[in-house]
Amino acid sequence: MNRRRLLQGLSFSMLAAKLSGTSSLYGQAAEPQPQPARTFSPNDRIQVGFIGPGSRGQELIRQLLRTPGVEIAAQCDVYEPRFAEVNELVGKNVPAHKDYRELLDRKDLDVIYIATPPVFHASYSIAAMKGGRPVYCEKTIGFTPEDCTNVVEAARKTGQIFQVGHQMRYASWIVESVNRVRKGDIGEPTHVYGYWHRSDNWRREVPNPSLEHLMNWRLYRESSGGLLEELGSHHIDIANWVFGEQPQTLLGTSSIAVYHDGRTVGDNVQAVLGYSKGRRMFFSSLTDNGLMADQVWVYGTEGSLQITLADATFYKRTSKMITEASHSDVVQKGVETGASYNADSAMPYRGPGHRVNMKRDEDPTLTACKSFMECVRNKQQPFANVDVGFRSAIACSVGRQAMYEGREAKIPQLTA
Ligand SMILES: NC(=O)c1ccc[n+]([C@@H]2O[C@H](COP(=O)([O-])OP(=O)(O)OC[C@H]3O[C@@H](n4cnc5c(N)ncnc54)[C@H](O)[C@@H]3O)[C@@H](O)[C@H]2O)c1
Repeated sequence: MNRRRLLQGLSFSMLAAKLSGTSSLYGQAAEPQPQPARTFSPNDRIQVGFIGPGSRGQELIRQLLRTPGVEIAAQCDVYEPRFAEVNELVGKNVPAHKDYRELLDRKDLDVIYIATPPVFHASYSIAAMKGGRPVYCEKTIGFTPEDCTNVVEAARKTGQIFQVGHQMRYASWIVESVNRVRKGDIGEPTHVYGYWHRSDNWRREVPNPSLEHLMNWRLYRESSGGLLEELGSHHIDIANWVFGEQPQTLLGTSSIAVYHDGRTVGDNVQAVLGYSKGRRMFFSSLTDNGLMADQVWVYGTEGSLQITLADATFYKRTSKMITEASHSDVVQKGVETGASYNADSAMPYRGPGHRVNMKRDEDPTLTACKSFMECVRNKQQPFANVDVGFRSAIACSVGRQAMYEGREAKIPQLTA
């Protein structure tokens, strides 16, 4: 790994903090010496240590319980009521720890899952990899730019298996659709538009005010990258996959339009990310109106692709798209005026299109967990590897800061 090139593009202050050995703002990673990963026989059960079994974590545990050859062997959470929730889900008493270092010190764990809030992802992942364990870590892989760099460095130095929770990379209908786009099915893809709109204030009820920041970590800048990071990172990852590279720039806006309730992250976000050759990704997230819901559009020179959580639909440019009805409508309106309006230049986006459906009973998170376990058994790097995690996380991390400061972000590039 060329350390100098990996750091390319980081600001001086970030670089200074990095070279002086300062770790994440949110805690010092434990520094055990790198340990070799375990080798498995086909009948060996993989013992999982789980850190942060909150809402996403319990969904991951549910999917792990459906993954053959896997045991939930230990859990760690700073919020004790989680332990009983996990025990009920797993159907037995799972040894519990309040400090992640105690969990990592156990000798009976083969892999580590991490689903804490993102500020802890980097230091916990690095400690786990240095301790000889493959890691499945929720997105985003790091909160600060240094975090993101440090996780890549640790993964490369230890050679450990690392998978990021971008489970859409394991959704069969998205895999098929993106592969077709990359082969030229809609011509040259030039734009990706991601919408993640909801009618949901994003606030959780807390049993007592002292738990506000622990439970509503998403609402505060010191613990959350807001909608860009929490939701946009998935769409940015799809754009990265479609374009085959990471973004170079991000220009964004964020404000509180509705929920003036003490939160410090925006309740709406819009961002434009720049890729090479003038290609663009646009991301919009609203929390007060769910119109458009969660969908990604890929626009190409010969057609478009709509991706939703259940299917994908291709709309192709046809040689003659004007129908009798639309033609007579245009003639009646008298606006057939070449460059200013030409019905034939509009790409179709309604009608049946060509649909790619999800498989029956498919769950991308289950597929992602199964695939991770296969990688662990076969000592292979996952499809959603650490580089994939870096490329979405760094855009969110550097981008959100620039967004708050009202300037365009230059995104540090990861090079081989
Ligand atoms: N891939 C996806 O589709 C997806 C979906 C939702 C959330 N997520 C990600 O999952 C992560 C968790 O989100 P969530 O909604 O489950 O949050 P959550 O608040 O419900 O759960 C986080 C858990 O971590 C615990 N925790 C906090 N600090 C800890 C620490 N220092 N050590 C151990 N445990 C600690 C909390 O008590 C809580 O139980 C986030 O990174 C989020 O972005 C991913």
